[in-house]
Amino acid sequence: MKVLVTGGAGFIGSHVIDGLRAAGHSVAVIDDLSTGSRDNLPADVPLHVADICDEQAVRRIVAEERPDAICHQAAQMSVSRSVREPAFDARVNCLGMIHVLSAAAEIGCRRVVFASSGGVLYGEVTSPAAEDTPADPMSPYGITKWVGERYLGFFAREHGIAAVALRYSNVYGPRQNPHGEAGVVAIFLNRLLTGQAATINGDGRYVRDYVYATDVARANILALTASADTIRPGSVVPVNIGTGIGVDVVGLERHVRAALSTCRGEATLPAPVHGPARPGDLRSNLVDPSRAAQVLGWRPEVRLDDGLLRTARSFADRAAARG
Ligand SMILES: NC(=O)c1ccc[n+]([C@@H]2O[C@H](COP(=O)([O-])OP(=O)(O)OC[C@H]3O[C@@H](n4cnc5c(N)ncnc54)[C@H](O)[C@@H]3O)[C@@H](O)[C@H]2O)c1
Repeated sequence: MKVLVTGGAGFIGSHVIDGLRAAGHSVAVIDDLSTGSRDNLPADVPLHVADICDEQAVRRIVAEERPDAICHQAAQMSVSRSVREPAFDARVNCLGMIHVLSAAAEIGCRRVVFASSGGVLYGEVTSPAAEDTPADPMSPYGITKWVGERYLGFFAREHGIAAVALRYSNVYGPRQNPHGEAGVVAIFLNRLLTGQAATINGDGRYVRDYVYATDVARANILALTASADTIRPGSVVPVNIGTGIGVDVVGLERHVRAALSTCRGEATLPAPVHGPARPGDLRSNLVDPSRAAQVLGWRPEVRLDDGLLRTARSFADRAAARG
């Protein structure tokens, strides 16, 4: 099977590429490299450097590659940028997505998997939220993920596409960008590797559900390759991808420090400091992954301590390679 991955040079997209290739599928990537990097991809992966907002470029690339399926990961994914620049957010996450879906329909592509977000759709929930929890997006980013799912449903109905919206919880792992505002594991590791203490916002009692990147990649591959009996043409199936297990930021920081100490053989790393709380941060957000098990046969396999150890090793190796 041939899969076109939009945003394939990014954190999650590049893990999807690795998983697809390991399973023997062929791949191609559209990415404007705004937050992703060529270095995240094996040298022989065809990369089209293009903006999904460029409708003609997207049509040309999709017509040239003629993929059997599209995995749509490309997005403006900063919540705070979406608040500052809602029109930019909507341009990339709605118009860009429409360009990808129109081009898919034009070549008769039969399967689309979309990177959605449980975190921004469900809002404040104290127990793991199932997919039928009413969507309550608070930010422009959350609104465009929700609208993206609706557009996906429209294109699926109109063009007989089998579509899955994977609603990720908080994803972490190697290659996550530590310079964004999201990706707390990457941010903490980057601080600790440069000899600085991690900064915990407010009291740090913010509970999240952390899922490892290769588990998320495997969910994408299962959604891309599931039979048409499982993922039927003509509609979109929303599926949560998370663990359902909550950890607060104070506990997470402790785990991250322990993982880095283990992989560097260093007993003492700086203790965290507390900064101001971020306005609007949810106290608790978790997703229930039961449907993923029923529909895709997916369960998270990488436990948090193991995933953090792998992530810490990868960040430490990259830091050492940079000198
Ligand atoms: N990381 C998480 O915890 C998380 C949680 C929920 C949903 N998501 C979604 O998963 C997807 C991947 O996120 P990620 O964490 O890998 O982020 P990322 O920034 O590493 O990946 C996004 C990729 O899309 C590319 N891109 C951005 N705008 C583009 C444009 N206009 N045209 C072409 N390419 C463009 C970037 O260069 C990058 O390679 C996004 O859709 C994001 O909203 C991520």
